[in-house]
This record gives sequence, C-alpha cells and structure tokens, in this order.
Amino acid sequence: MSLTIEQMKTADLEDVARIEKSAFEQPWTAQSFRSELIKNDLAHYMVARMGERVVGYGGIWVIFNEAHLTTLAVDKVYRRRGVGAALLSGLIERSSQLGARRISLEVRPSNHAARTLYKKFGFNARGLRKHYYTDEDGLVMFRNIPGAAGEIDNDPAS
Ligand SMILES: CC(C)(COP(=O)(O)OP(=O)(O)OC[C@H]1O[C@@H](n2cnc3c(N)ncnc32)[C@H](O)[C@@H]1OP(=O)(O)O)[C@@H](O)C(=O)NCCC(=O)NCCS
Repeated sequence: MSLTIEQMKTADLEDVARIEKSAFEQPWTAQSFRSELIKNDLAHYMVARMGERVVGYGGIWVIFNEAHLTTLAVDKVYRRRGVGAALLSGLIERSSQLGARRISLEVRPSNHAARTLYKKFGFNARGLRKHYYTDEDGLVMFRNIPGAAGEIDNDPAS
C-alpha cells in the first residue's frame, strides 16, 4: 500500500491522538494538536497515510532560519516500515522550504529507536537539557539543512 506524507488537518486529529496516546507516557491531547494547527503560525504538522489510514505524524516549529522538531510518532503496528524516516524526511524538506538552515530536537537518552533514526539522518548530539522530561534529561540534537543561503555552523556553542 502506498505511503504519502501530507499536511495534518483537523479531520486527522482523532487518529493522531490515538497514536499519541499509545506512543507517549504523557501524551498531548487532541485539543493541544488542534490549538497547534489553528493558533500557532510557527507550527507545521504532517501525517503519514497508508491508503486512507493515518499511521504516523510529526511536527516542526520554524522561527526564522531555525526549525525545531516538536514531535514524531508512528502507530506501533506500522513501525519499522520506513514511516518514521519518510515523515522526518518530509519535515526536514518542509523546514528547508520555509527557510530553516538548522533543525534541533530533544530525545530521551533511553529512546534507542528514535536516537538511531535521528543519527541515521545526520543529527548530532550536542548536550543535555536537565530534567527536560519528568523522569529523564533531554538529549539535544542538531543537524544542518543545506540550502542556498548557506549552512549555519553545526556547533551552536561556537
Ligand atoms: C521513533 C519512531 C518514530 C520510528 O518510526 P519507524 O517508522 O518505526 O521508523 P523507520 O521504520 O522509518 O526506521 C528508520 C530507521 O530508524 C532506525 N530505527 C527505527 N526503529 C528502531 C528500533 N526499534 N531499533 C533500532 N533502530 C530503529 C533504524 O535505523 C531504521 O532503519 P532500518 O529499519 O532500515 O534499520 C517510532 O519508533 C515511534 O513512534 N516511537 C515512539 C514515539 C517516539 O519515541 N518518538 C520520538 C520522540 S523524540
């Protein structure tokens, strides 16, 4: 069945909230996603669809030339089929279209699956945000987005 990456719509929110609930210990509500879609001009969310079914989603905030990955999740039944990679690729492409030259994210150090995916996409670990999660620090990762305006130095400290 073909996989498509599309802009998230309010009609997708029930499916998104269902996946979110099974993927995260402290899930966002459908209302949080609705508010992101309707009220946050910096936010851009996408869904992965297999046929008619929403099988994953992810989002970015883009502020000037910086993008931040806010979330990424795939329905458990559809994992390890390239859906997460397709979503991440789509979100990086969207970030680039919107003028971002670097993208950052936070991930749990214990989240082996996500860390492996991000590393495969060229994200580098740059430090820890203390107590970012209720029970764990957040590992901060960055990668450049090649573009006509040139890349930002990969080391935010320099
Ligand atoms: C992380 C997540 C989005 C990956 O989605 P996915 O659709 O299964 O990922 P893909 O099939 O596209 O995998 C792409 C690559 O990522 C890596 N990867 C993905 N899942 C992995 C796992 N469980 N163990 C090791 N590597 C993994 C592999 O390198 C994989 O390539 P391969 O299958 O050719 O080996 C998914 O596991 C998920 O939704 N997790 C729960 C929510 C979450 O933790 N989100 C990230 C928050 S920061």
